[in-house]
Amino acid sequence: MAQIAHNPDARPDYKSTLDLGAVLPQTAEVKGGHLWIGGVDTVTLAREFGTALYVMDEEHIRTQLRNYLEWTRYHWKDVDVVYAGKAFISIAMCKLVEEEGCYLDVSSGGELAVAQAAGFPASRILAHGNNKTLRELVEAIDAGVGRIVVDSLEELARINGLALERGLRQPILIRVTPGVVADTHQYIQTGSEDSKFGFGLRDGLALAAIQEALALPGVELKGLHMHIGSQIFALHSYAKAIEVIVHFMDEIREKTGFTVSELDTGGGLGIAYGVPDEPSTIKEFGKVIVDDIKEHCEQHALPVPRILVEPGRSIVANAGVSLYIVGTIKAIPNIRTYVAVDGGMTDNIRPALYGAHYEPIIANKADQPRDTVVTIAGKHCESGDVLVVDTPLQAAEVGDTLCIFATGAYCQTMSSNYNKQVRPGVVFVRDGRARLVVRRESYDDLLRCEVSECL
Ligand SMILES: Cc1ncc(COP(=O)(O)O)c(C=O)c1O
Repeated sequence: MAQIAHNPDARPDYKSTLDLGAVLPQTAEVKGGHLWIGGVDTVTLAREFGTALYVMDEEHIRTQLRNYLEWTRYHWKDVDVVYAGKAFISIAMCKLVEEEGCYLDVSSGGELAVAQAAGFPASRILAHGNNKTLRELVEAIDAGVGRIVVDSLEELARINGLALERGLRQPILIRVTPGVVADTHQYIQTGSEDSKFGFGLRDGLALAAIQEALALPGVELKGLHMHIGSQIFALHSYAKAIEVIVHFMDEIREKTGFTVSELDTGGGLGIAYGVPDEPSTIKEFGKVIVDDIKEHCEQHALPVPRILVEPGRSIVANAGVSLYIVGTIKAIPNIRTYVAVDGGMTDNIRPALYGAHYEPIIANKADQPRDTVVTIAGKHCESGDVLVVDTPLQAAEVGDTLCIFATGAYCQTMSSNYNKQVRPGVVFVRDGRARLVVRRESYDDLLRCEVSECL
């Protein structure tokens, strides 16, 4: 990454923790000057479990799952909520998703293995991926996953062959790209025609895949899947995609006689990473998805299918925070002050990858105003290893516990061992209790795959 741009307009905002509103986990409180989540003092958690550390508000996660169930089923009874494990997956998370009566989307053999270790019912799992390996397909079919979401003709043929060898018919959905460009970062747009995912509607590719699937005895076509992108604020992108896909459902019926009985509209609802962010609510999302599908089906005289929604980020992002200890503070006159913490791009790659923005506070000064401007740097050997650039923050001192909000999604799951950094642990907090659900790695973990006999 090139030099970090200087922002001469950066100013303190004098906000303290509770002014950060929707960015916070739902149970966040300030007591005795400290940030508490789930009835637990985060400063104590950092000391007890070590930093960097991910802390997740279990009540927040459960509430989000329940909100999705409530506000989609409010409009149509036949809806299921499929939590997208890529946002954050662990055995504890899978158990929580199961307890809340939701389904699970896995996008690799590894995610499937975690779900299986959690005893997650295979019939409630959807297997994703634009290039599932043969081994991953075998594992998914042998596990008995409820649906494989098919992404290519090669994969369709492989699933058919594997299913026939086993004397079964594998239920599938066909992933289509509706050609709608979601209003989000281009790295997380997936529904446009130029996409490595799914089959495009233009040029008849999706229709050809449907015809092929209907002709194969080893697959049982249930319906369609789409996912137009992630961190989407404007619901009109969904409305447009639904219009296009229901029109395609009509075309399928007309040209093949097949009636789509399931439609998975993917995930993508945005969340508040920063104070000014105002994402749509789950209630608004549920209304647009379900009402628009119903309306367009009615126009085309199609039966309303079973609907699946696949949220990830909006379930876990705001539930999670990252805790660090401030190790060094470097003031460069007339340029910026770097506050360096004991983590960085290895536990949160999103700022370096997409320029993602986060809100930080000092957890042991949570009741104080953010009256300075600093840049929060990681500890890794890249000058782009910066977590938040020119951000308001309470006056930092070495030894402070720094908290970055909204890191529950796509941080732990995208973490790495760059610089042989050990990956942080994950703690779930609820009702005054903290439980370690993923332990912090050790140096032994770093050496686990080394083959010392090679010497
Ligand atoms: C197929 C699919 N479904 C669901 C999701 C979850 O999206 P989000 O976390 O934005 O809700 C993704 C994310 O990329 C995805 O690729």
